Amino acid sequence: MLRIIAAAAAIAVGATAVYAQNLDAIKARKESMKALSAAAKGPGGMMKGEVPFALPTIQASLKAFQEQAAKSKGLFLDNAKTGGDTEALPAIWEKKADCVGKFDKLAAAAKAAETAIKDEASFKAEFGKVMSNCGSCHKEYRKAK
Ligand code: HEC
Repeated sequence: MLRIIAAAAAIAVGATAVYAQNLDAIKARKESMKALSAAAKGPGGMMKGEVPFALPTIQASLKAFQEQAAKSKGLFLDNAKTGGDTEALPAIWEKKADCVGKFDKLAAAAKAAETAIKDEASFKAEFGKVMSNCGSCHKEYRKAK
């Protein structure tokens, strides 16, 4: 009897742990996406001419893109497909390598832009190439609003 209760308790604890991990991963990747979006804000304003050109802000954003891309790609766990208001599409898990590759592409584009962007003219020519990685992944792997 005692063993049965202990086993049931262990299963209950295990189930809770899996569920919690699921929601944590979803929350963490949403936070990571928000950080990408926050990092894109300054340079986005510069592209539109609403904010004065500032190379240090751009360089910091490019670093943040690389960090968050590396972080995000590890947060699409098998137990984090649903729940927590996720906008992640099932295609992510069906084509995991392709999806992870798109995060690597974003990081590589941000890394390349670190050296390619030296002034306002090169910023205007190069920054869009980095940002195109956001939309190309969302189109395929994020629920449309
Ligand atoms: C390789 C795929 C991929 C790339 C690259 C990517 N995203 Fe996302 N993004 C997603 C997915 C998937 C979601 C949905 C996550 C969820 O709800 O679980 C998402 C969600 C978001 C959200 C909504 C977050 C929330 O609060 O629910 C924002 C904002 C966002 N992305 C911004 C960006 C920006 C900005 C970039 C580029 C700098 C970017 N993303 C690059 C896949 C990507």
